[in-house]
Amino acid sequence: MENNRGSWGSNIGFILAAVGSAVGLGNIWGFPYKMGKSGGFTFLLVYICLAVIVGLTVMASELALGRMTGKGVVDAYRTVSKKFKWIGWLGIIAPFLIMSFYSVLGAYCVQYMSLNLAELSFGLSGIFGATISGGETFGAMLTNPFGCAIFTFLFMVICMLIVKGGVSGGIEKFNKIGMPALFVMLVIVIIRSLTLPNAVEGLKFMFKPGYAVEGGFIEKAPGFVEVLGTAGGQMFFSLSLAMGAMVTYGSYLDKKENLVKNSGVIVFADTLVALMAGLAVIPAAVANGINNGVAVGDITLSGPKLLFVTLQDVFSNMGSAGPLFGVIFYALVIIAAISSAISLMEVMATFFIDRAAEKGQTANRTKITLWVSVAIMLEALLVAVDGLGSNGVWVPGQAAFGVDGWNDCWLDFMDCWSEGVAMPVGSMLMALMIGWELKPEFALKEIHNGNNTGWFTGFYTVCIKFLVPIIMAFVFVGQLQSFFASASNVVLYAISGVILVAFWIFAASGKKE
Ligand code: PFF
Repeated sequence: MENNRGSWGSNIGFILAAVGSAVGLGNIWGFPYKMGKSGGFTFLLVYICLAVIVGLTVMASELALGRMTGKGVVDAYRTVSKKFKWIGWLGIIAPFLIMSFYSVLGAYCVQYMSLNLAELSFGLSGIFGATISGGETFGAMLTNPFGCAIFTFLFMVICMLIVKGGVSGGIEKFNKIGMPALFVMLVIVIIRSLTLPNAVEGLKFMFKPGYAVEGGFIEKAPGFVEVLGTAGGQMFFSLSLAMGAMVTYGSYLDKKENLVKNSGVIVFADTLVALMAGLAVIPAAVANGINNGVAVGDITLSGPKLLFVTLQDVFSNMGSAGPLFGVIFYALVIIAAISSAISLMEVMATFFIDRAAEKGQTANRTKITLWVSVAIMLEALLVAVDGLGSNGVWVPGQAAFGVDGWNDCWLDFMDCWSEGVAMPVGSMLMALMIGWELKPEFALKEIHNGNNTGWFTGFYTVCIKFLVPIIMAFVFVGQLQSFFASASNVVLYAISGVILVAFWIFAASGKKE
């Protein structure tokens, strides 16, 4: 049906937008830390194998699904599948849940950039303490729900204004400037990070196999399945897969573009930026700790504290140039967060735009974007006010089950159901749908579309039919292990295995429609 959906202005515009979606908070704090904790170089190898086998396959599939149907995630699955028409809903609920905390984390970055900017412009040390010390600032910020809500609102307004501008007039335009700017800023921060005394210890943490254990960062080397689970979960989140984002972005893509090449470029660029972010963040954090007499094992390299405590301390200890690097660093994180957040919002906006078109109405993008933003703002308030559990806000399940990873705070609660459950299950089911219900040729026809990349056919068929569903089952176990700390491994493997086998039989049974 004809509608006013719009389309990308150019293929490079699409690529920058897709890379923008992929490059986000996940690259900047997730990747480097997980790499260090999970065996350094071993993790990198596993990650690259997974990115090529699973990432490339799922990326091409999602782009193809979007492009062949010309629809957002819910309607795309509804159009192609009889058996799995409902899985599109996972791909719209997950981005909605992710936005609840992504917007709050983006808002934290805006606050940190503002503080460093104030320090740079007016020497306003003492806003939260004697200097901008990471720990005090973060504590003060988390326990100031009103401030967090206001900055979350600000972050959402920025995203809303971009998404309201449309696919080429808003999202593409932002990324065309934002992505090159992010790259340049990242290079500046890397140079500063690597020239700090003792930066080499941080490089060892990231790259030297086993160093994390010997050097005291962690006590025990992780097992292979654990590394597989961690790398797989990270890869999916980092590549924005199974969240409807790539289906949605694909639905605006011109038929003549080569999906194999595009997918390869996106996967490569995202992995490159993740490694670059590692070089910017970890050596600086480790060097600063060592230079200030902190024991290696006590340097915080994980979670929100890495960005908001450890790194702020790096900038505070850097002397007069510190606030300048602070501004550059938090600005680049804000760009990364916005470029990802707008893709998550676009998943929802496109859904409503398509629904309006189906009813024969002309969609009003401005109105739709506004309502999507209001809905996100309401759920984000829970995360903002909760302050990572600092403010004693009620979290579902704590009273009944005790505090156990998935319900530590509202952020973990939202993350568990989106990144932990919807994402691996959604992509496992998508692979089974294409591999066994629709058959790989169905997707390959759209993927190739006149640009037949010979080797890809066999590779894709094996991956989508066998490797992706099986690897996703392991990734699902890995995700469950990280969110349900007290559950027994046997139970987690059993849950994952039953889901895999049951849906495999379901997908392969009966005649192809
Ligand atoms: N890829 C983003 C990151 O690495 O932070 C997060 C993300 C964005 C996930 C968009 C999913 C998505 F659809």
